[in-house]
Amino acid sequence: MLFCGIMLNIYTATSSDYPLIQKIAHETWPDTFGAILSKEQISYMLEMMYSTAALTEQTSVKGHQFLLVKDETKHLGYASFELNYKGLSKTKIHKIYILPEAQGKGVGKLLMNTITGIAKENNNDTLSLNVNRDNSAFAFYQNIGFEKVGEENIDIGDGFLMEDFIMDKKLV
Ligand SMILES: CC(C)(COP(=O)(O)OP(=O)(O)OC[C@H]1O[C@@H](n2cnc3c(N)ncnc32)[C@H](O)[C@@H]1OP(=O)(O)O)[C@@H](O)C(=O)NCCC(=O)NCCS
Repeated sequence: MLFCGIMLNIYTATSSDYPLIQKIAHETWPDTFGAILSKEQISYMLEMMYSTAALTEQTSVKGHQFLLVKDETKHLGYASFELNYKGLSKTKIHKIYILPEAQGKGVGKLLMNTITGIAKENNNDTLSLNVNRDNSAFAFYQNIGFEKVGEENIDIGDGFLMEDFIMDKKLV
């Protein structure tokens, strides 16, 4: 698709794309969480969520689907989501990360719009996600119509917690 004069391509990732997803995660996480989480927690979470074994389990067992977005020269980011989350007509967005240099240009919104289209095609009526309570992405989600519906602290082991807001968006 042509986007602000740039050709962007969004496609469903396969296992051969795992190295790309891992590379973008390792480039984006320190920038996103460096001021919020300890280095140790960032390393721990990257391993927990992005090792090849973890990505394989997410896609093969848990039903997560990954989208990658690229321009003419390089990959800019990825998102993952799960339709019919917990048996409900809800799509859970598990991940959305855009490379630091590509942020603020509408790419995240475009990925979210793509997920919205897929959710609607599958008769899901709500998008849901968790965001760290100190992550400025909270304002991005508000900007595109999400509302805070709760908060939770998730114990992820090794003494680390994820301290999140839960946000939902009703699809009409
Ligand atoms: C959060 C993220 C996915 C947003 O994607 P993006 O491509 O940077 O955002 P967009 O350019 O599509 O922004 C869409 C709108 O949200 C606003 N917005 C984006 N990020 C924002 C932020 N951090 N704070 C406030 N507003 C923000 C933009 O100004 C824009 O507003 P407009 O449409 O009124 O002009 C991206 O910045 C990112 O990957 N951040 C780091 C990783 C991260 O935090 N991921 C979420 C983990 S839960």
